[in-house]
Amino acid sequence: MSAQTIVITGANRGIGLAIARIYRDRGDRVVALCRHASDELRDSGAEVAEDVDVTSPEALQRAAEAVEEVDVLIANAGVLSSEPLSNVAEARDRIERQFYVNALGPLLTVHAFQDKLASGAKVALITSRMGSIADNSSGGSYGYRMSKAALNAVGRSLAIDLAPRAVAVGLLHPGYVRTDMTGGRGNVEPSEAAAMLVARIDELDAAKSGSFRHANGEELPW
Ligand SMILES: NC(=O)c1ccc[n+]([C@@H]2O[C@H](COP(=O)([O-])OP(=O)(O)OC[C@H]3O[C@@H](n4cnc5c(N)ncnc54)[C@H](OP(=O)(O)O)[C@@H]3O)[C@@H](O)[C@H]2O)c1
Repeated sequence: MSAQTIVITGANRGIGLAIARIYRDRGDRVVALCRHASDELRDSGAEVAEDVDVTSPEALQRAAEAVEEVDVLIANAGVLSSEPLSNVAEARDRIERQFYVNALGPLLTVHAFQDKLASGAKVALITSRMGSIADNSSGGSYGYRMSKAALNAVGRSLAIDLAPRAVAVGLLHPGYVRTDMTGGRGNVEPSEAAAMLVARIDELDAAKSGSFRHANGEELPW
């Protein structure tokens, strides 16, 4: 496979950083978007673009202007907080924040980069199975569940809207990964999750576009 240009949001730590490292190790050009770079990201060999908050259309536009053509766009940045039913009123701002970062952020990211997507490009939206309505057996987490369900809706529309341009869109759940987001709890390391995600992105095509999958390849219920 010849070198590709990969753009990743939230690439300074966690799963985003691990994905950036894998593509760099493969010899791809990685444009790593973040709010603040980490030493690990700087050491990865990725091209770093700072001050890119995914809720800012202006910042995303600036980042897009610096790139000619994108082969893989990965909307990875996300936030998680926990709101039980008892405190949703007090937590309204946190719920809103998750919606802006997790659902609107990826949509704004794709919007900013849409003209840079090469024919045959791939868009990966890092979602969560907590956004699955069918799979919700434990309740709670109102803001996160709502935001990721909304992101799944975004992904389906993007898959339809970008199909004429031969751009495939994947909604990918990384698994339960040991990152800051989970307080270091989880079943897999970021590097393992990232390897599975990259394998899913490699096999993403028109037939799989618009599907919602676990990083292990399993199709997830909506
Ligand atoms: N870890 C899991 O088990 C798990 C499970 C399911 C889904 N996910 C999803 O996987 C993705 C990555 O999560 P992670 O586990 O790697 O979490 P993480 O370690 O907490 O990293 C989150 C990343 O998102 C960035 N970010 C947050 N708000 C942002 C904003 N407004 N603009 C730009 N960047 C922002 C963070 O940047 P800063 O350093 O600037 O805050 C950081 O780079 C998220 O979408 C998450 O929902 C994770």
